[in-house]
Parts: sequence; C-alpha cells; structure tokens
Amino acid sequence: MTPAGDIMQCSARKPMHDQSPTLSVIDSPAAGYEDPLDLMDEIDRLKTEQDATILAHYYVEGEIQDIADFTGDSLKLARDAAAVENSTILFAGVHFMAESAKMLNPDKRVLIPDLLAGCSLAESCPAEKLDAFQEKLRQEGRDFVTVAYINTSAAVKALCDWIVTSGNARELIDEKVPAEKEILFVPDQHLGRYLEEVTGRKMILWPGACMVHEIFSLQDLLRAKRNNPGSVVIAHPECPQNILDVSDFVGGTEKMRCYVQSIEEPTKFLVATEANMIHPLHHAAPQHEFIPVPGIMTDTGETCACNRCPHMARNTLQKVRDCLKTGKPEITWQPYFDKAKDVLERSLLK
Ligand code: 13P
Ligand code: SF4
Repeated sequence: MTPAGDIMQCSARKPMHDQSPTLSVIDSPAAGYEDPLDLMDEIDRLKTEQDATILAHYYVEGEIQDIADFTGDSLKLARDAAAVENSTILFAGVHFMAESAKMLNPDKRVLIPDLLAGCSLAESCPAEKLDAFQEKLRQEGRDFVTVAYINTSAAVKALCDWIVTSGNARELIDEKVPAEKEILFVPDQHLGRYLEEVTGRKMILWPGACMVHEIFSLQDLLRAKRNNPGSVVIAHPECPQNILDVSDFVGGTEKMRCYVQSIEEPTKFLVATEANMIHPLHHAAPQHEFIPVPGIMTDTGETCACNRCPHMARNTLQKVRDCLKTGKPEITWQPYFDKAKDVLERSLLK
C-alpha cells in the first residue's frame, strides 16, 4: 500500500481571486499561543453564562467542531439554527451562514467569530450586478426564476425566488420550479452546471466559483487514484466538471458524510473538498482512510494549504472565546433581511 505521504506532488496553485491573508498569517503561533484545552473549558463556561448555542460548519477546524453543539452542512445548520432555544447563537462558519441564522432567528443575538470570514462565491455576485442582470433579462422578455445557492449575501437572497444548498438543490428545482420557466442560477457556475446535468434543466449560469474547489487539479486527482488502487473519489459539486467526471460520488458535505457511513467495508477515500471535512468523515466512519485532494506534499509530508478555505480558517478557538466574552462581532438586522427571510424560510424550512 502506498503511504499517504507519497500520494502526490501538490501543484500548489494560488486561487485566482484570493484577496485574503495567507493561512500562515492567520494561524501564526506568534499571535499569542493559548492552550486549546483551557480555551475549550473557558468556552464551555461562557456558553452557559451567555445562554449560547454554538453551530459549526464541517469546514472549520476540528477542535471548533468538537466544542460545537451542532455541526453540519449549510442546510442542516440553517435548520438547526431555526430550532435553537438559547438566546444567543454563535456561528463558526462564514458570513452568509451567520446572516442566514439571523434571518431565521430575528429575535436572537447572532455572533460570528470574525466578520471578515467571507466567501468567494458570495463576493462574485454583488446585489447591484444581479439586479441589473435580471432587469436586462426581463427587458429581453425572458421568463425566468432566479435560484440562488445559499452562498450569497442576504441582499442577493432578497432578489431571488428560491435559495438552495448542495443538500437540497436538485429536489427543490425538480419540485418547485415549473418546467416552462428558465432558471437563472447564481453564483456558482460549477454547481449550476452539475444541476443542469442532474435535473435536465437548461440554466443561465452566473460566472462565480469557489476559490477552494475550483483549484483542484485533474492531474493531482488522477495521480492520487493511481497511487491508491481501489480508492473511491468523493467530490463536492462545487468542483469543476473535469473533477466530477472522474469521481465515484458527488454530493454536498452532509451527503458525503452519510455516504461514507453507509459503507461498512474499510475503504480508502480520496476527498475532493475542503480538507477539514476529513474530521467529521473520520468521526462518522473511523474504519475508513480519508486522503485529502490534492493532499500531502511528497518532500515535506506537510498538508498542502490550497484545499483549505481561508475564510473558514478565520475561525479560531480564541476568536470563539473572545466573541462569547464581548458579544462582538454581532450580525445585526438589515432592511433587506425581511424579504430574504421569506425566501430562505420557504426554500429551506418548508
Ligand atoms: P455544504 O456544506 O452545504 O455542502 O457547502 C459547502 C460550502 O462550501 C460551504 O461554504
Ligand atoms: Fe465559500 Fe468556498 Fe470557502 Fe465554502 S469553501 S465558504 S464556498 S470560499
């Protein structure tokens, strides 16, 4: 069997539109080391003191997932957020997720450890640009509905008819979007293309992409497959078509988790999504081996950082603690939340 350290050379490509600080800056130990166990104890105490529930996406550090009350994909977390009884929600994820939690809980205090935790997909689709494009389509006489991936700002959600996640997109389009309507799908062109394939619907695709998933290279993946005979490739539908074409299973993060859990036989999985996903996969099905794509660099044995989301990486235990302690940063209600809330609720909760 090939050791994981030999699986591939990482062709560490820089995301094209990465304007975020590098991981080494975010994670610098010089920023003031604190013992993670002490931080976890402090967070536990503050959670009770502040009457808070912590939600964490599968892409944040494993230690944050471990202290969370709920972990999941975007769909599960939105539904979990809607059921929270405590007066405060701390969302360890990215901005659009915390914003969605706020819209589903107008009367609760919603905190996010770092307000700058954005998303390349959400950034690719500013509300004014979408508004102008929709207007142009209307003037051309096009009869369309706008379906938005949840990875969008609330201002964009307010302009849309339906919101989908990787967990419910296919079903929602099949059930809710009349066959005679055109679909404008924003902002992920790769997820949109995949949905065209599985739903058989033609879509107008917004040219956005996830900075993490768009840089997986076919060459790296094929090399990993060759070096790991019998391995099974699982990929997120945010990946480009050439990656999905050579994958054995395509699904959002929660579907991936359920899939590996459904297989009893110990199996080697090549995981084409954000590398922190390995944490819940391992937890759900410890009998398997999970190898991140692109994976491990041959010379150093270190994990390549290009499959890490720099926005998710802004979440740290320190910031979770500080956020609970100070009550900041907080997501506050914006005027366009009213409209976006309605779309979000009927898309995800009904
Ligand atoms: P899901 O966890 O909903 O599959 O989405 C992945 C993602 O990119 C979240 O930002
Ligand atoms: Fe956005 Fe991609 Fe990061 Fe998810 S992994 S938050 S889609 S940039």
